[in-house]
Amino acid sequence: MGQEDQEVLIRGGKATSTSAESLDNNNGQSYEQSSINQGFSKNYGTLSPPSPTLTADNLTYSWYNLDVFGAVHQPGTGWKQLLNRVKGVLCNERHIPVPRKHLLKNVSGVAYPGELLAVMGSSGAGKTTLLNAIAFRSSKGVQISPSTVRLLNGHPIDAKEMQARCAYVQQDDLFIGSLTAREHLIFQAMVRMPRHTTKKQKIQRVDQVIQDLSLGKCQNTLIGVPGRVKGLSGGERKRLAFASEALTDPPLLICDEPTSGLDSFMAHSVVQVLKKLSQKGKTVILTIHQPSSELFELFDKILLMAEGRVAFLGTPGEAVDFFSYIGAQCPNNYNPADFYVQVLAVVPGREAESRDRIAKICDNFAVGKVSREMEQNFQKLEKSNGLNKEDENGFTYKASWFMQFRAVLWRSWLSVLKEPLLVKVRLFQTTMVAVLIGLIFLGQQLTQVGVMNINGAIFLFLTNMTFQNAFATITVFTSELPVFIRETRSRLYRCDTYFLGKTIAELPLFLIVPLLFTAIAYPMIGLRPGIDHFLTALALVTLVANVSTSFGYLISCACSSTSMALSVGPPVIIPFLLFGGFFLNSGSVPVYFKWLSYLSWFRYANEGLLINQWADVKPGEITCTSSNTTCPSSGEIILETLNFSASDLPFDFIGLALLIVGFRISAYIALRVRARRKE
Ligand SMILES: Nc1ncnc2c1ncn2[C@@H]1O[C@H](COP(=O)(O)OP(=O)(O)OP(=O)(O)O)[C@@H](O)[C@H]1O
Ligand SMILES: [Mg+2]
Repeated sequence: MGQEDQEVLIRGGKATSTSAESLDNNNGQSYEQSSINQGFSKNYGTLSPPSPTLTADNLTYSWYNLDVFGAVHQPGTGWKQLLNRVKGVLCNERHIPVPRKHLLKNVSGVAYPGELLAVMGSSGAGKTTLLNAIAFRSSKGVQISPSTVRLLNGHPIDAKEMQARCAYVQQDDLFIGSLTAREHLIFQAMVRMPRHTTKKQKIQRVDQVIQDLSLGKCQNTLIGVPGRVKGLSGGERKRLAFASEALTDPPLLICDEPTSGLDSFMAHSVVQVLKKLSQKGKTVILTIHQPSSELFELFDKILLMAEGRVAFLGTPGEAVDFFSYIGAQCPNNYNPADFYVQVLAVVPGREAESRDRIAKICDNFAVGKVSREMEQNFQKLEKSNGLNKEDENGFTYKASWFMQFRAVLWRSWLSVLKEPLLVKVRLFQTTMVAVLIGLIFLGQQLTQVGVMNINGAIFLFLTNMTFQNAFATITVFTSELPVFIRETRSRLYRCDTYFLGKTIAELPLFLIVPLLFTAIAYPMIGLRPGIDHFLTALALVTLVANVSTSFGYLISCACSSTSMALSVGPPVIIPFLLFGGFFLNSGSVPVYFKWLSYLSWFRYANEGLLINQWADVKPGEITCTSSNTTCPSSGEIILETLNFSASDLPFDFIGLALLIVGFRISAYIALRVRARRKE
């Protein structure tokens, strides 16, 4: 059907004989009234639940007066905007209204248990915005009006409860790309399924879901990272995201575009799975683009959206009546879903006309039976003081603390083993750099020149360990953070179990890297011989590797993106490096920067390694040329010149250990703050 035809239909040119009033000449008469005037026995759209019997597990989800606003990007540079903000604060005009885009306009609706509710509309109609708002997952910058009410079985809910009871398959999927599809599902089963479920039952459920969603062929394929590591196809990723949510048989399932990227057979099987879930008494809401006629028939109710408003809510049969009444009858042999979406689309080049048409359809629906019933229900609830909070008990994590910890540890360990950036590249890089430094500083002797070279090599140990570990952590950790944020917001696991599990899983690597590096470079350079000296140096280098890892975690958790963390990292590390005692004598640190030097791991580690190297070098062990008076004749003199004292070695160890703890705790706090903030 062409756009012309559509327009004609809406204008009433091809209206059915019964619809005397077309939208354009409605003259303010409500659609409801006009239908009665025409002798219609039906009221279009319905609120009635499919089955009046509800058990405690069945959830009726209703939302009223949902008004959602999005930020509008203001033209002008970032500086201009910053200046405006400062001006606002200085002039005490903190509440200068920021321009906002009205994304959802007074949207109300209800989804019943046992019902498959499909939200449809053209692209940009507000489907995802609606789903995010009802699932309490609105993105940053999106504001929901305080008059909005969201109720589960008539009780207002908050984000925490909603996330505990509802499974939400978002339009954009997020995975840890180094796992296989099966490993991902096993992890999801470990944290999503109730704590009393045995391991065997969990694996059986995973197998069942894999079979239901035809993931058998790709279950052992790496999920991959789009554009970086080849893995599952788009459709397989979609099914995997859906499978994760389907594992627990949640009472309320919200799916944003579960079928996009799937062929018609797969789309049908996914919707069939949803239909089966709804038939078991679940409440299922999904958005869908272009469902086939066959799929369309599976929907119990449809919610049509246009321009952020509700254009229709009711059964597909009632939609046929509604649209034919308003003069937009779906032609025979035409897919009704395609037809509604086209009727409610803004046609390029004819925007004003399209918006006018959409407004009329929505206005008609807004005064119809469903909207009135919604309004009445809402007022009844308010009057009966039904807006009390439900008992919050039971909205806890599905898995126990230990189960969560074990699951995160297992997953993190798998990704450590499989993430090439973490293991193979790191070990290769460490070996290469250690051999290179070893060759450059090969076989140093205790001479005046040797002293200078050894001190340089020791400082290079520290810079290499710091930059290598801090940046590897930042790159890998920040790429995993969006997954963490989404999963903690779905209350799959706690922030502390994640942080602890992740830290412990990565620990072996941060022990092996310094061991490999020191074992190669230390003897090649010819540093102080003796196993005790080697072990002391190894312990210090290992501590440095772990301080820098902790620092990497802190930067990753405090910054909003990988690129930001990578650009913030070096300027923050440089001052610590300067206070290490190599570039600036530790006795010359300005008084106002003394405090900062106490946070410098370079300072503790450099002092410790130099003490280890020079403290027991007796006078005369260093070969000096007689003509040179600046040659240090003993190790003690070297330490004195650098303002280091041999008795400080234990404090250096303590200082490094405290920095590890301090940075880790700060990183954990930053992570918690991130997890609580909006996505
Ligand atoms: N955070 C935001 N700030 C400003 N505008 C937004 C924001 N989020 C969404 N929008 C706008 O709101 C409108 C609805 O977006 P939404 O993602 O809900 O559409 P949709 O119906 O899901 O479309 P699609 O079918 O393409 O996924 C779009 O015009 C979009 O640009
Ligand atoms: Mg969308």
